[in-house]
Amino acid sequence: MVSKKQIQVLLQHAYDAQKIAHAKYSGFKVGAALQTRDGEIFSGCNIESSSLGLTICAERVALTKALSEGKTKFVAILIVGPVKDYCPPCGACRQLLYDYAPNIDIILTDGKNIKSVPLSELLPFAFEETKLRIK
Ligand code: THU
Repeated sequence: MVSKKQIQVLLQHAYDAQKIAHAKYSGFKVGAALQTRDGEIFSGCNIESSSLGLTICAERVALTKALSEGKTKFVAILIVGPVKDYCPPCGACRQLLYDYAPNIDIILTDGKNIKSVPLSELLPFAFEETKLRIK
């Protein structure tokens, strides 16, 4: 569980990241702030490509930044979008978050309200490591 005070800190990081999003094709700027178990925050923004399918979402940028710095324990990720509505993570982000942090909480805001949902509720019956066994 993340405290209300910590949510405010995550919000600030997510909004700061959103400001520098590279979203010139869609105009849809997203920011994310990932909280590690030891209290660090890794932010991310979406990075779009002219080859649209190569676009990387804010959540995956935050996660890969943290993983590449050796962080492996995560408690929550807060996501902000550009409109007054919740911006839930896309399917690809749900999968990658599940692979590295199946118990993480997803914190969303519509600009007014805050909603926290366990990832397991957003991705039930997930594909995961144990399913890779072929024998
Ligand atoms: N996007 C994210 O960054 N995160 C999401 O969870 C949903 C979508 C980005 C990808 C693309 O740059 C833009 O939003 C429109 O889909």
